[in-house]
Amino acid sequence: MGDLSKAINIEDLRRMAKRRLPRAIFDFFDGGAEDETTLRDNRLAFERVRLLPKVLVNVAEVDLRTRLFGHEASLPLAIGPTGGIGAGRPGADLALARAAKAFGIPYTLATPGTASIEAIAEVGGRRWFQLYLVRDQAFREKLVARARDAGYEALLVTVDLAVSGKRERDPRNGFVTPYRPGWRNSRDIWSKPGWLLDIARAGLPQMANFEGYKFSSTAVTDIATAVGREMDASVDWEYLRRLRDLWQGKLLIKGVARVDDAERAAAIGCDGLVVSNHGGRQLDGAVASLDALPAIARAVGSRMTVLLDGGVRRGVDILKARALGAQAVLVGRATLFGVMAGGEAGATRALEILAGEYERAMKLCGVRASADIGPDLLAPK
Ligand SMILES: Cc1cc2nc3c(=O)[nH]c(=O)nc-3n(C[C@H](O)[C@H](O)[C@H](O)COP(=O)(O)O)c2cc1C
Repeated sequence: MGDLSKAINIEDLRRMAKRRLPRAIFDFFDGGAEDETTLRDNRLAFERVRLLPKVLVNVAEVDLRTRLFGHEASLPLAIGPTGGIGAGRPGADLALARAAKAFGIPYTLATPGTASIEAIAEVGGRRWFQLYLVRDQAFREKLVARARDAGYEALLVTVDLAVSGKRERDPRNGFVTPYRPGWRNSRDIWSKPGWLLDIARAGLPQMANFEGYKFSSTAVTDIATAVGREMDASVDWEYLRRLRDLWQGKLLIKGVARVDDAERAAAIGCDGLVVSNHGGRQLDGAVASLDALPAIARAVGSRMTVLLDGGVRRGVDILKARALGAQAVLVGRATLFGVMAGGEAGATRALEILAGEYERAMKLCGVRASADIGPDLLAPK
């Protein structure tokens, strides 16, 4: 892991992760749905934004902090939920939670995470829980109760996964459920001894929150691509209302693209939402998150905390998202690549890169505090 310091941007960490991981697993993390149009567009939307920097502002000291749900975060960023990640490195979820805690930002555990709700709570940082609406209602509501008992601050209900997106890299790489080494993928596996040794030492990572569910095993290799088939596609706004009654903490919906949906969430009493297309892994052709953001922020930004995810790879992206109306961003792959490249140190490296770039972008834009970032920094189209 000595070469982590050589990673000067997130793309470097992505390349290091790619080198360490079997292709089937790297592609499961990296890929999107179908033609990956939305995956690409999430990035392009950031690249299209042009800024109007201010000059001759005293930016010797700048204040990166922001408040999220009444508590301070060291920068406008939280780690978003990513399921199944132990397949790439045992302990990945815990490593991300520890890195987030040390950095002073919230960490989101995914329902199909490879650490239990309780194990993440033991890390002791700010923690949010992402809920998948799996078919078994009693089971999913038990997850909600466990998150409450374990002191989770927020529940993020993911609403863009009525059915799993068609991710074509997975079947092409033989990453199907159950995942069993055949002649084709065994070469893939044996060519990555570092990864293999870690898995051999730690044992097969488990999707610990599915303990007691109807799956015959919780091993990530057995259910990673099966979880998407377990979603209750019949849930609607009525059920969100029920969750609002069940959960006293902060309630967010994750995966919103439309103003009318954002309005509905506000009317039900959600505290926040995440403008998101699941990192381009669900509906291919869905609007880029950043393009959907301004209208939603205008409509509900004064009533709810508006977050954005999808395509954040640079610190300046955080500034752009704030200028377009987000309170903060979530990152999925950026820190995931970090943790795959180098465990907790790699996750920390990813956060350092993003924070360093964000601070530099603030100084170059002539803004002294996150709170001062607004639409006046955007160049007219
Ligand atoms: C490997 C992987 C697993 C994911 N698992 C989940 C999940 O279990 N629940 C969820 O709500 N979102 C999940 N997501 C979506 C992320 O929370 C987030 O919306 C997305 O990664 C943001 O885009 P970015 O990766 O470009 O930052 C996953 C994303 C990736 C890359």
